[in-house]
Amino acid sequence: MRILVCGGTGYIGSHTSVVLAQMGHEVRILDNLSNSSPVVVERIGLISGRRVEFIKGDIRDRHSLADGLAGGVDVVIHFAALKSVADSCARPLEYFDNNISGTINLLQAMTAAGVRHLVFSSSATVYGNAKQVPVTEESPLQVVNPYGRTKLVMEDLIRDYCVSHPEFGATLLRYFNPVGAHPSGQIGEGPIGTPGNLMPYLTLVAAGKRPFLQVFGNDYPTPDGTGVRDYIHVMDLAEAHVSALSYVSRNPGATPINLGTGRGYSVLELIQTFERICGVEVPYRIVERRAGDVAALWADATKAQELLGWRARFDLEKMCEDAWRWQVGNPDGYPT
Ligand code: NAD
Ligand code: UFG
Repeated sequence: MRILVCGGTGYIGSHTSVVLAQMGHEVRILDNLSNSSPVVVERIGLISGRRVEFIKGDIRDRHSLADGLAGGVDVVIHFAALKSVADSCARPLEYFDNNISGTINLLQAMTAAGVRHLVFSSSATVYGNAKQVPVTEESPLQVVNPYGRTKLVMEDLIRDYCVSHPEFGATLLRYFNPVGAHPSGQIGEGPIGTPGNLMPYLTLVAAGKRPFLQVFGNDYPTPDGTGVRDYIHVMDLAEAHVSALSYVSRNPGATPINLGTGRGYSVLELIQTFERICGVEVPYRIVERRAGDVAALWADATKAQELLGWRARFDLEKMCEDAWRWQVGNPDGYPT
């Protein structure tokens, strides 16, 4: 297939692009590099042994999208979004513009180019502060921060579009907590600036680049009091996109699908597993809860297995091992 990967130099997009290129798909990446490095394109080529086309451009720019969709594209995978919850609270308009306007623009460009298949990166954030875990795709949806609002609105936009264009197919992939890196250690999570997520911050602490990890609260109603999440290896997520491509090509309509392992781990369990597997100490301090955090969230991943024939293969140990290999080999992230 000819695939346009919007946001393909980012964390999840780069791992997915490697897998797609290795399978012989023609991959074209469109990314404005607002949160990624151009070096990623070389690394994808290096690992996959295949050339991947790269266009530096913004999905809010019609010309960039026209370039991206030129020559016939079978499927668009849409990773391109701003993703920090904290940032979204400080700069909501930027998030609405980038994520929501960008998605409208993308749907318009796809209409003009006659592209009918979309694989969309949604998030478990759409479940908000879920009353019951694990969450299924039918669990109530809820907005708890501006980032989450953009994901819900984007899902709704795509759903409405599918109703008005009955031949159009979209999977709304709700990722839980992606962690880890490609086993080669060549690509991984290389955000610009200080990471806000647990695993990339934890590996910085383990590497001695930060003095300690802040554990945000130990008074949650969870077994050890710290937050529980469904961590999923980024390579498992990448594989799920391959299955989603084939599903979306055969099934019109909008289909939400949870992508998680179906198992939750607490922050302390993650720290302990990391220390055991990587043989490095992770100093930490318990601090106040972080605003906007939920106590516990993990997936019911049955639908992914039923519809996509996909299930996560890698355990928490492998996630820690691969995240650490990436950190050790790339102590300052991607070269600038
Ligand atoms: P990322 O920031 O590493 O990748 C996103 C990429 O999109 C970046 O390379 C960035 O430069 C690019 N981008 C952003 N806005 C753009 C625009 N307007 N035009 C072109 N390119 C643009 O993030 P990620 O972790 O790889 O996440 C990918 C997707 O998955 C996002 O939509 C995110 O919301 C979603 N998601 C991520 C997580 C997570 O924890 N990483 C969890 C759930 C959902
Ligand atoms: N945490 C810490 N210390 C840190 C960072 C995080 O204790 O320095 C804790 C959090 O309180 C939470 C857990 O680690 O209990 C995971 O936090 P992350 O920031 O890694 O992930 P979140 O679950 O908050 O959010 C992530 C993405 C969102 C996405 C959501 C889906 O950042 O974009 O997963 O579940 F929507």
